[in-house]
Amino acid sequence: MPTLAVIGSQWGDEGKGKITDYLAEGANIVVRYQGGANAGHTIKIDDEVFALHLLPSGILRKDVTAVIGNGMVLDLDRLEEEFESLKEKGITGYDLRISDRVNIVLPYHRTLDGAEERSRGAKGVGTTGRGIGPCYADKISREGIRMGDLLDEEFLRSRIDMILPIKEKFAATLGEDLDIKKEALISKLLAYGKKYEDSICDVSVLINDAIKEGKKVMFEGAQGTMLDVDYGTYPFVTSSNCTSAGICTGVGVPPSAVQEVVGVVKAYTTRVGSGPFVTELHDETGEMLLKNGGEFGTTTGRARRCGWLDLVVVRHAVRLNGLTSIALTKLDVLNGIKEIKVCTAYEIDGEEVKNFPGNPRKLENAKPIYDTLEGWEGWTEETSKVCKRGYDALPEKMKEYISYIEKDTGVPVGIISVGKGRNETIDRR
Ligand code: GTP
Repeated sequence: MPTLAVIGSQWGDEGKGKITDYLAEGANIVVRYQGGANAGHTIKIDDEVFALHLLPSGILRKDVTAVIGNGMVLDLDRLEEEFESLKEKGITGYDLRISDRVNIVLPYHRTLDGAEERSRGAKGVGTTGRGIGPCYADKISREGIRMGDLLDEEFLRSRIDMILPIKEKFAATLGEDLDIKKEALISKLLAYGKKYEDSICDVSVLINDAIKEGKKVMFEGAQGTMLDVDYGTYPFVTSSNCTSAGICTGVGVPPSAVQEVVGVVKAYTTRVGSGPFVTELHDETGEMLLKNGGEFGTTTGRARRCGWLDLVVVRHAVRLNGLTSIALTKLDVLNGIKEIKVCTAYEIDGEEVKNFPGNPRKLENAKPIYDTLEGWEGWTEETSKVCKRGYDALPEKMKEYISYIEKDTGVPVGIISVGKGRNETIDRR
């Protein structure tokens, strides 16, 4: 059984939730390696819709161990809320493991997130305000609290004693009074430690041992390649490495541990918040994609910006992640469009550019170079029925669109998704 990673190839919201859940069939372990409660997967099973933010998608399958890797940042209050909402839908009895090294999002991270974004004014990065950025910043400046610390009161106290005055001083420079009740915070953290004591473990040992034993391990990415802190559209990015490279540090495995890398590509492009977006549409087609695609954030409810498929972005994702196959989602949203455009390169200052530039100023002047393909206008068949009949039953023009993407990127489209449900999927792998 190969180990497999599922990674967003655009700006997130590609439908990784559905694809991870689909691929999790037969998996023994699903592990998340980066991000926090700023991610939001939506999974539809029968008529029930589940919105997950922190928990790996594998949590919805019996017999799957769901793992929170050290590369994530964990908001324990939000984890409680997520368990509550699962309980309301009758999901109980799961097996969750949490890395002893994962950094904890604390209430002051949320306060600082808002205060920092306000200080940036109109040049804000569009943070979700969930404390993710400040928590990662603390990890790097070695002022973080980790899950394992919650099991050792003496050590936890010494860390909090050292860290709180620094945070309070910093908050004051932003005009914020953190007003942290130290004893209450310590008690709460110790209570969480006790509650999750049996789940806390060395995730690197867990996963490496599982791989040696031949178990099927799946690495679940959140957000997407273009939000990667190094290779995304910096500074309009998230604070972690969403690309496959993040798996090694975020779980504690060597590069050789990841055998297959599935890149989830939405059949068009969306992005949330500010930042460059070369194929963005400000017309009726853009509005149609927003409406038919239901492009509103799972976490924030914000309307997403919509545009044509950008293959410059997808090729960037292919190279950075070493994609071995593509899962192409939301093709059904393009139903009824007469002509579909795909961006194959950018024109910047009169030159054709094929690779995604690192300089945001260059992107401001980038114009998309499009190819135009015929759409599958009159296709009205029920998607779940078509999926039962397989790839050949898809409309010819849709197959041409798929082949075009394969040819341009050099990567096979292994999974095709034409609806939210598990049964609206074609698997060609
Ligand atoms: P992030 O980790 O935040 O990037 O989320 P995500 O990639 O898991 O995407 P999210 O679940 O937020 O958004 C995808 C939405 O599209 C969900 O509502 C899915 O149910 C839906 N979806 C997934 N695949 C398809 C598809 O093929 N067709 C349609 N119509 N909807 C789909």
